[in-house]
Amino acid sequence: MSARILTTEAPAPGITAEPVPAKPLLQVRALHKSFGGVNVLRGVDLTVNPGEVSFVIGPSGGGKSTLIRCINFLETPNAGEITFDGRLLCREEGNVFKMEPERVLRAARSEMPMVFQHFNLFSHRTVLENVIEGPVMVKRWPRDEAIAHAEKLLAEVGLADKADRYPDELSGGQKQRVAIARALAMRPKLILFDEPTSALDPELVSGILDTIRALAEQGMTLIIVSHEMGFARRLADVVHFIADGTIVESGPPARIFDNPDNPRLATFIRSILH
Ligand SMILES: Nc1ncnc2c1ncn2[C@@H]1O[C@H](COP(=O)(O)OP(=O)(O)O)[C@@H](O)[C@H]1O
Ligand SMILES: [Mg+2]
Repeated sequence: MSARILTTEAPAPGITAEPVPAKPLLQVRALHKSFGGVNVLRGVDLTVNPGEVSFVIGPSGGGKSTLIRCINFLETPNAGEITFDGRLLCREEGNVFKMEPERVLRAARSEMPMVFQHFNLFSHRTVLENVIEGPVMVKRWPRDEAIAHAEKLLAEVGLADKADRYPDELSGGQKQRVAIARALAMRPKLILFDEPTSALDPELVSGILDTIRALAEQGMTLIIVSHEMGFARRLADVVHFIADGTIVESGPPARIFDNPDNPRLATFIRSILH
């Protein structure tokens, strides 16, 4: 952390204050993850500031899902450091990789829920039960409060009339909106999206993109893995290109899409835009 972030002193009279950079909400350093000897993440560094919308793009198999699953410990990293909301969740000590106890990781995970490509709803539970599950079981909030909040969120995503339905009675777009309401029900600080529209019929994609855009406009911090490049270009504050387990290039969407430095990124952009 730079000294500047810690500075709290008022500037001397006559000296213009430099803007104090926001403290990152999430800081990932030198993150490594392998599966059966295959190095999938090979030293990923990523900083996400509060209120920022970050897109992660890159070729299939490049480690996008693994990265965001490691960020909230759905996968266990092998090495590196993750700091979330001021808490150091895993770190290197000497050569030993240490993680905080499961209860700490679970609490952190509940503040950065994930929205999956295939929704991952409980099929034997109603829409309302899906949305209150986390608040009641993980956060231990009173059930009636959780229900009132869930009903409000379902209304916000346009599903007020579906609370008592089961996931199989809904379209893919409706299921994904339930999944977004479920994430919001945790009162998250960050939402991770893993290709939230990839499993949807084309006519249902724009409804989900509109829902995500509304979250961004409300100031929610988002990390979005997506192949929707037009959407990324319009919504992203920063785009990260990941390939072969490292972030090869990061930058504002205009530069990443129109003026990429890295030849692999340039090839990737050409391949998806044409
Ligand atoms: N649970 C797992 N077990 C073994 N290999 C995995 C597992 N998850 C991902 N991988 C491998 O890690 C690599 C990166 O996968 P992934 O993170 O899903 O990439 P992306 O999301 O960019 O397509 C792939 O080669 C994939 O086969
Ligand atoms: Mg993936």
